[in-house]
Amino acid sequence: MSDYMFMLESHMRPQQFAVVQQVQAAAEAAGLNVFLSGGAMRDMLGGFPLQDVDFTVEGNPAKIVKALTAKDGVTVLSENPLRKSWELKFPSGVVSEIGMAQEAHYAKPASKPVVKPATIHEDLRGRDFTINAIALSLNRTSRGLLIDPTNGQGDLEAREIRTTGNYTLYDDPVRILRMLRFKARLGFEISARTQSQYENVREAKLEEKITPEQLYRELRAMADEPNPGLLIETLEREGLLTLFSPTINGAKLNLAGHEKLLRLRQMVPFGAEFHSENLGLFLFVLTENLTPKEKSGLVKFLGIPKADLNAMTKLDAASKKLESTLKSAKLNKASLVYQTLLTAPGEQVLYLAYKSGQRLVQDRIKKHLTQYLPGVLEITEQEVSNWCGLSPDDAKFAQKHKDYILGRLDGRIRKPAPEPIPEPEPPPSGRMLRQPSAARATR
Ligand code: CTP
Repeated sequence: MSDYMFMLESHMRPQQFAVVQQVQAAAEAAGLNVFLSGGAMRDMLGGFPLQDVDFTVEGNPAKIVKALTAKDGVTVLSENPLRKSWELKFPSGVVSEIGMAQEAHYAKPASKPVVKPATIHEDLRGRDFTINAIALSLNRTSRGLLIDPTNGQGDLEAREIRTTGNYTLYDDPVRILRMLRFKARLGFEISARTQSQYENVREAKLEEKITPEQLYRELRAMADEPNPGLLIETLEREGLLTLFSPTINGAKLNLAGHEKLLRLRQMVPFGAEFHSENLGLFLFVLTENLTPKEKSGLVKFLGIPKADLNAMTKLDAASKKLESTLKSAKLNKASLVYQTLLTAPGEQVLYLAYKSGQRLVQDRIKKHLTQYLPGVLEITEQEVSNWCGLSPDDAKFAQKHKDYILGRLDGRIRKPAPEPIPEPEPPPSGRMLRQPSAARATR
């Protein structure tokens, strides 16, 4: 196995790696070359948490998509016929994009491109930033070969964002928003030439050509960023937030709200069982200080789809039941609070922590995030095994594991005393130690 394939397997979640294997097999059966590309490669090589698993195919990926949807339970989330790309959802929940390797020709700045099929090298050279223009071959004869025509790896090491060419931002001005998003996310510097290209694009006011559809896609992406407030602040400073709405400025930016949500999200311990859909919550905080008229203006201008809008507008009503459960006197044990919150949708938990006026609700959520979840994460299978006398392979182990967690949370089961640290081995006898020097002395 090449070093990069090994790195891939160790960096990905097993469900993500399974997707790589499935796509690789489907491409091979269709006789097409497939490459892991874009964000997946950037995140893996840069050591960042891997979000999407994106693939590029030399040729039309339709056959691969057809095979995956026909027998592997994969669903199509969206399709871009111009770009010949598909966003797919695998049964494990992994979302992945499969697109055709392509060359886009822009007749003039910010115009609709003419797209034609291309090789992977040509495709990568036409991407936005060098750190996004790296691919890994998944094909039988070259599996594990890294393709990096613009030295993205060097820029990842130097922590720099650099466009792949001199017209990158002119061709597709939404890339200026992407650039600032990556800068806020990764904390990288923008290279001097890219900065001057950016300034020229701004001078020419090309940002005004970014379509509402592109703006909304960026807004959606912002919701999943680790620190959306920082990005909003950056966009405001750069005078770009007005592209989204002329009225989001000053106190309406709600930076304090974004900061509060960030602190709540950061309370969730790494590796804990907690899943939250970010979009509704982000849109709620974003528009919290807008008037109803300003809100509807934003929704109309960006063309926010109904389902996404519902995620925001229904959050309050959807969280009411959880709120009344959480303030109930019946929830008088840590294990009951834990079980209630473990099965609740993460966005409702965070919404209540953000917004609920009930002190008890706030306290119980904070205890769950900062005490119960971290405590449960520390419990090892060995500990449970010592307690119940069953091995983790035993069919009854899962139930015992749960009983143990609940017992520990309520203090019915005590935390085991730490294993005694083994006594250090006695040092070899003095004579043994002295022997070599004695031998040296006689030489
Ligand atoms: N791309 C581009 N120009 C754009 C949008 C995308 O060149 N206007 C390229 C990027 O190089 C990117 C690839 O298309 O790697 C896939 O786009 P997308 O999935 O949006 O980007 P990711 O890098 O995966 O970003 P994220 O981590 O936010 O998902």
